[in-house]
Amino acid sequence: MSDQNTSVPEPEEPSIGHVMGILTGFWQTKILLTAAESDLFTELSGASATAEELGKRFGFLMPGANDFLMALAGLGLLRADEDGTFRNSAAAERYLVRGRPEFIGGYLRFCERELNPAWEGLGTALRTGKPQNRSALEGSPYDSLYRDKETKEAFLESMDVNTSVLLQRLGDLDWSGYRSFIDVGGARGSVAHHLVRQAPHLTAGVFDLPQIEGDFAAHMAALGSEKKVTFHGGDFFSDPLPEADVLIFGHVLHNWGTEERRKLLRKAYDAVRPGGAVIIYDPMISNSRASLSASMAALIMLVWSAGGGEYSVTECHTWLREAGFRPATIGPLDAVDDVLVMGRKER
Ligand SMILES: C[S@@+](CC[C@H](N)C(=O)[O-])C[C@H]1O[C@@H](n2cnc3c(N)ncnc32)[C@H](O)[C@@H]1O
Repeated sequence: MSDQNTSVPEPEEPSIGHVMGILTGFWQTKILLTAAESDLFTELSGASATAEELGKRFGFLMPGANDFLMALAGLGLLRADEDGTFRNSAAAERYLVRGRPEFIGGYLRFCERELNPAWEGLGTALRTGKPQNRSALEGSPYDSLYRDKETKEAFLESMDVNTSVLLQRLGDLDWSGYRSFIDVGGARGSVAHHLVRQAPHLTAGVFDLPQIEGDFAAHMAALGSEKKVTFHGGDFFSDPLPEADVLIFGHVLHNWGTEERRKLLRKAYDAVRPGGAVIIYDPMISNSRASLSASMAALIMLVWSAGGGEYSVTECHTWLREAGFRPATIGPLDAVDDVLVMGRKER
């Protein structure tokens, strides 16, 4: 499993540091988000500067500026050199510099604007079972999410962060027997783009809400895939799903409650051609193996989504069987506990 999947280990002896580390996690988040908000890591990319210089550039006063930079060094995001200058750590240079292929700025902004405020209501969500995000009463979290342009862009960028590690595994599946796929809830098309690059014989499509069609078109044009991946706008609850050999549901089923998941898989069965398949990936949970990241993913769904949560592989197989598919687990995806499950439709 990847390092994103680590749980905080229980120390052999009770330790105040263990508890304090958890308590002050919020402070660390604020330090990272404040640095990213100022684009500090982009400013320091390939360069170094003193606290005074950086303070002047960002309007931060001393001695706070120095404390802030030293805290970032303590978090392993900056290196504090003996000559009194600061520079990016390797991790900051790779993930926190704007324009880098693995830049996670969208995810940071999405957490700050959308997920973290919802986490504030965790206690209420636990007591009421109701989501705590801005559109808690509207039914779908995507209604309010897509109304705000900046939050929408941050969300769509952050979806690429979530999928980048599983692209390889999806591409490694044997696609030779299939001619087409639709990525249902495929957002701005990153998965579809990568898949069709690895298996160019496939006709590729994304089915998603019409509100993001412009973002999809711009992203596909930027990646040079505008002629290779087609956008199908619609609502997967009220519109039929486009026909294809394979339908993919990536990080989609966990957004919704059990009845909606079963409905989507029934609709998928109608849309998948005989001999085809449905592919599902989500951070599935297991009661026999505690995973902090999978449990946190489940709690994000509790506070943010419309009745969603993480589910087990066994539940997923049951829903697939009910819909008519023959289920198989392809395996963990080595990324935030994602598991890839496939359901085959007989010829
Ligand atoms: C969590 S994202 C998953 C993105 C991507 N598939 C991934 O692997 O991370 C869920 C996607 O479902 C889409 N979606 C939500 N409600 C929908 C609906 N009613 N009909 C179609 N798409 C919907 C969202 O726009 C979003 O792109």
